[in-house]
Amino acid sequence: MYRATGEYIFLFLVAATHGLPTTTNVPDVDTADSSNTRIVGGTPVSNRTEFPYQVSVRWSSIHVCGGSIIDTQHVVTAAHCVVDDNDKVLTASIVSVRVGDLYTNSISTTTVTKSVKYIFVHEKYNSYAITNDIAILRVSDPFNFTPYTNKVNLTSTRPATNVNCVVSGWGTLAFEGPPSTVLQSVVVPIFPQVNCSAAYGGSVTSGMICAGYAQGGKDACQGDSGGPLVCNNALAGIVSWGNKCALAGYPGVYTEVSSYLRWIETQVARDSSSTLFLNLYLASICICIYLRLI
Ligand SMILES: *[C@@H]1O[C@H](CO)[C@@H](O)[C@H](O)[C@H]1NC(C)=O
Ligand SMILES: *[C@@H]1O[C@H](CO)[C@@H](O)[C@H](O)[C@H]1NC(C)=O
Ligand SMILES: *[C@@H]1O[C@H](CO)[C@@H](O)[C@H](O)[C@H]1NC(C)=O
Repeated sequence: MYRATGEYIFLFLVAATHGLPTTTNVPDVDTADSSNTRIVGGTPVSNRTEFPYQVSVRWSSIHVCGGSIIDTQHVVTAAHCVVDDNDKVLTASIVSVRVGDLYTNSISTTTVTKSVKYIFVHEKYNSYAITNDIAILRVSDPFNFTPYTNKVNLTSTRPATNVNCVVSGWGTLAFEGPPSTVLQSVVVPIFPQVNCSAAYGGSVTSGMICAGYAQGGKDACQGDSGGPLVCNNALAGIVSWGNKCALAGYPGVYTEVSSYLRWIETQVARDSSSTLFLNLYLASICICIYLRLI
């Protein structure tokens, strides 16, 4: 959740600049977190085969976000995970994805690291409203699917309120707490959209979906951004933002995957070389205009 300040993505910057509830009307961080231990309120994953689609998205090899494998060449994540402070899309060569292991800081025989060849950020991603917070990463060579590395199906419909879903990641175990070195997961139900929208002063759009308990205690947190919310065995949400983590009355907000199926299909079918040619073509038009050749 949450904007990048180097290693992690924080949401409180979003809250501060966005008119969302700030610290004045919510419990003190220590109070809010005292009953929570994991992802927030989750448990460590013991067998990676349960989450073969979960990747760690890295900048210069450092974990910043989660992501999900959706086919042999593509990972879906949040747009805010792959842009810089000025919302400029990162150079693909500094981004990589890691899958197949449970720990962020050690590798095993099942660890697979892939460099990223191309980043497709939603053209209408808005970092102020955090709308269209979705991006596709194309890896340099295809994933070999194994019990430890596999894709997740995309949901075709928006999950109903109260459906139990699972969110996972290596994010912090509490707001501003330490990151988890082992993959964590927690079950959270889909939160009523009206209540979520009311809680966040109308900032929750139809392209977003919320999950969590009214009493709080279980949620995604910093460093989980871009990661999967899986409902009925299909990817239904992408960790996006929230008010701190696991606070009562403030569920986690996710990019709602079924709203973006067409966009995802279009990106995975895109030929990255044609983008280059289009850019060269546009550049040549600009040069021609500048030189008054046309
Ligand atoms: C993990 O789960 C798979 C599939 O259920 C099983 O074959 C494997 O033995 C398990 N590994 C461990 C370490 O429990
Ligand atoms: C994913 O979709 C395929 C094809 O529709 C289906 O065969 C498979 O069982 C699905 N996987 C899961 C985990 O639901
Ligand atoms: C949603 O709002 C309604 C009406 O205010 C309330 O009765 C209900 O308990 C709320 N549900 C949750 C999960 O907060």
